Amino acid sequence: MSQPISAATRGAMNARVGLGAVTVVAVVSALTLTHFVHSRVRSVAPTPLDSAPQIATLKATTERPVVHEAALRALGKRIFFDQNLSEPAGTSCASCHDPAHGFAGNNGSKFGVAQGSRAGHFAARNTPSVMYLKYARRFHLHWEEDAPVVDAYGGFFWDGRVDDLADVPKQPLLNPDEMNNANVSELAHKIAKSEYAEELTRELGSLADPDQAVRAVGEALAAYLTSPELAPFSSKYDRYIRHEADLSAQEARGLRLFKDSAKGGCSECHKLNDTIPSPERSLFTDYGFDAVGVPRNRKLPVSADPAHFDLGLCARPNPRFHSEAPEFCGAFRTPSLRNVALRESFMHNGAFSSLRDVVAFYASRSVTPNRWYHGPQFDDLPKQYRQNVNIDKAPYNRHIGDKPALNEHEIDDVVVFLGTLTDASLP
Ligand code: HEC
Ligand code: HEC
Repeated sequence: MSQPISAATRGAMNARVGLGAVTVVAVVSALTLTHFVHSRVRSVAPTPLDSAPQIATLKATTERPVVHEAALRALGKRIFFDQNLSEPAGTSCASCHDPAHGFAGNNGSKFGVAQGSRAGHFAARNTPSVMYLKYARRFHLHWEEDAPVVDAYGGFFWDGRVDDLADVPKQPLLNPDEMNNANVSELAHKIAKSEYAEELTRELGSLADPDQAVRAVGEALAAYLTSPELAPFSSKYDRYIRHEADLSAQEARGLRLFKDSAKGGCSECHKLNDTIPSPERSLFTDYGFDAVGVPRNRKLPVSADPAHFDLGLCARPNPRFHSEAPEFCGAFRTPSLRNVALRESFMHNGAFSSLRDVVAFYASRSVTPNRWYHGPQFDDLPKQYRQNVNIDKAPYNRHIGDKPALNEHEIDDVVVFLGTLTDASLP
């Protein structure tokens, strides 16, 4: 595991991907993470611009052919709101991914994770928004020349475990705590009985094979989720960067604090570019993974078991990229903050139900830990992984007794700024 990578391997494996402000120097594929973590190879030379063999594999996996795109999107939208695909009927994708909550939500549950189609059954994690997924990229590892360890990016779900958006829907559809279909055949039977079965067949071929039927539903849903309707860029912030609106004084202060690397430091991960009128450069995430040290959500039924922990990235199953290194335990994918003010609960475990609390947590997590942790600091991780929690930069780099990264007024300013990320109209 400790031999350095040969120049030839490097040439074949690295790609430079233009991402505007973010320059990816080395994209590591097919190598095990442990290779990097243990050998700390530091001398990967920048890849020449003209050798970018992997661009195709790194492009958003959400791009699809345009042939019947409009029909497929409309079909996907009908399926997204169809309550007949759950067992028992009554729960649609939109029950949890509710447009009124920025396509997130808890389907009536109050403690941070969504209720499934059966009473007393709850999803394992908080529902993420499904907006702006068009811009998400495949899971990959990235190693910056001067960084001590490799970084992980992308993929769908809080742990990035799925790369193909059309493969995502079958997980909630078959999850006993979500839409609860017993198996693919039961689900395919429901699809065959649906009002859109004929249209689905016309667009995507025969539904006779159950796997094919489920795949067709996935394709249609993916077409809807990547449509412009789900990435409207119609917030006040978007109008501001297009020079169509001004921020209030408080919103502008919040934006400054959000970007200030000595204060909020938020844009380090929740990326934005407010100097160009291209809102797709301001997705408020870099799809990177980080261990934020979110407090344990003691309201979750699973929390009653002191041995139960959600380890995130290091528990992500995937034979192609080994992300099971202990350094990755506790890391979750950075969510976009677009429409965050519409959410009912926050963080992967839904530990917070107020946006102001989230910002206050960032500001004072390390200064007044007792305010946030009803147990040891970073209590939602087993002891041996607590060292993975980010304590390096603002807002995390404080100690007990220091001044918080943001004072009470500044917290309010950031919260008000986050309100400018709400889209004007949601379907
Ligand atoms: C009971 C609530 C619930 C229902 C119903 C539900 N989801 Fe989800 N959805 C979730 C949760 C929870 C996650 C995060 C799971 C994880 O990270 O392990 C999620 C994640 C996702 C993601 C990944 C988003 C991202 O940012 O990576 C997509 C896409 C998605 N769901 C689409 C759908 C579709 C399409 C349907 C309908 C077929 C659906 N969901 C039904 C709760 C639900
Ligand atoms: C080093 C990267 C990083 C920095 C810096 C950072 N965040 Fe985050 N943020 C994350 C990650 C990762 C999560 C998800 C953590 C989890 O659920 O365990 C998150 C979650 C959130 C959420 C919850 C969103 C949701 O959908 O549940 C909010 C709100 C948020 N961050 C705001 C901020 C603000 C405000 C700042 C600055 C004060 C900030 N973040 C700084 C990485 C970061």
